[in-house]
Amino acid sequence: MSDARPEESRTRTAAADLGARPTALEAVDLCRSFRLGDGSELRVLEGVNVGVEHGEVVAVVGQSGTGKSTLLHVLGGLDRPTSGIVRVGGADLSGLGSGQMARVRNQHVGFVFQFHHLLREFTALENVAVPALIGGADPEEANERARRLLEAVGLAPRLNHKPWQLSGGEQQRVAVARALANHPTVLLADEPSGNLDRRTSDELHDLLFELREERELTMVLVTHNLELADRADRTLHLADGVLRPSDDA
Ligand SMILES: Nc1ncnc2c1ncn2[C@@H]1O[C@H](COP(=O)(O)OP(=O)(O)OP(=O)(O)O)[C@@H](O)[C@H]1O
Ligand SMILES: [Mg+2]
Repeated sequence: MSDARPEESRTRTAAADLGARPTALEAVDLCRSFRLGDGSELRVLEGVNVGVEHGEVVAVVGQSGTGKSTLLHVLGGLDRPTSGIVRVGGADLSGLGSGQMARVRNQHVGFVFQFHHLLREFTALENVAVPALIGGADPEEANERARRLLEAVGLAPRLNHKPWQLSGGEQQRVAVARALANHPTVLLADEPSGNLDRRTSDELHDLLFELREERELTMVLVTHNLELADRADRTLHLADGVLRPSDDA
């Protein structure tokens, strides 16, 4: 590469030159290490570079323990990198305090976890309404938005069920609806179908791709499911702390 400027500055200038919409999600030289009890350092991410365009679906694959969840957490502002930069919708997360970070997560990032993390005492409708309420929507509007999202994921007849009154697949669909509550810039999903049977996981994948068409969703999907990875626009492989196109793996 002949341009000696850091990737970060090149990307920014290129975007400015073209008057382009900023990349939906971007990581530059992202590192994340953990300090262990014995004082040693476990280096998990060692210079991840990735840019995800608006409307793009990227699958991240890699062996267990390579750092996929760690990466997703850092990309979504749930965790902070040891060094490097994350930009969501062009906004650099580095300098943000925890309140501002929470606001970025609420407004711009939707998470679907492997285990849905729904609030047990809340109904499906309430679970999906929570992010909008936190974002300042009035309760009526939040409930209406939640109802429409639950209808979109096929759960109109289950609005008032609590998570434990729903099947595993239904719980994951509630989690998808919740993740979309504030029209996020990016949807980050960590093995969203990891606990589902084949048919239910196929249905969940269909749902994600339908939503992608309808809402031009940008998604990063961590998965061990190669069929799901095949449906993505791009598959990246996480190994030895870096992301590479999966063909090079
Ligand atoms: N808070 C932490 N403190 C210390 N080590 C951690 C911490 N979080 C994760 N790790 C370690 O970092 C490595 C990556 O963990 P991570 O959960 O990101 O892996 P993964 O690729 O998501 O694996 P899986 O496919 O099993 O979900 C693991 O070896 C894990 O033990
Ligand atoms: Mg994981």
